[in-house]
Amino acid sequence: MSTRVRWLGHSAIHIETDGVHLLIDPFLTGNPTAAAKPDELPAHFILVSHGHADHVGDTIPIAQRTGATVIANFEISQWLQKHGLDKVHPMHLGGGHDFPFGRLKLTIAHHGSVLPDGSYGGNPAGFHLFLKDGSKIYDAADTALFSDMRLIGEEGIDLALLPIGDNFTMGPDDSLRALNFLTPRQAIPIHYNTWPLIAQDPQAWASRVRETTRTTPVVLDPGGSIQLR
Ligand code: NI
Ligand code: MN
Repeated sequence: MSTRVRWLGHSAIHIETDGVHLLIDPFLTGNPTAAAKPDELPAHFILVSHGHADHVGDTIPIAQRTGATVIANFEISQWLQKHGLDKVHPMHLGGGHDFPFGRLKLTIAHHGSVLPDGSYGGNPAGFHLFLKDGSKIYDAADTALFSDMRLIGEEGIDLALLPIGDNFTMGPDDSLRALNFLTPRQAIPIHYNTWPLIAQDPQAWASRVRETTRTTPVVLDPGGSIQLR
């Protein structure tokens, strides 16, 4: 039983849990901080949080090459089917489902979701994963702070993935407030330093996390990973 979480830069995440490979928001082509190429990543499942190009990213070519099932909200799932993918699993906010890797629940996120060609992308989502080895991971994806993060925290979080870039999502100040709602054991900052507009100092953020929350900050370089179990 083991779970490893690898940050690929921006919001792209690779989770390997008991031999099952999950990719979240695999934006690699055009991502100046990408730590992997889309044609080298294994994938059984690809999770897409919302329609923006920096999250849909390389989903279609990776799914075509690997045969991975793409999990996204209903509207994005339909759009992916129109673009040639047949293995899609539509879900929506508040809904959970048991997959071979464990249970996944879609959480609310306050953001936009239009798809790269202007199509409607439904409401943006976050992901709460309850993996079979017991690891609980919450990926907030792109969102503002919201007080219902308390409710997500009540379900238990070992590792939170939180945006800290500011401008398009919550910034460092609100991410600290989010951690006090979510109370995860560990947190990895994402969605920063991809472009100058979302530049942040992750070590300064980590110091503040240690001072003002009960969470252990884990700052990774793109390509870096942590073992959960
Ligand atoms: Ni976005
Ligand atoms: Mn984004």
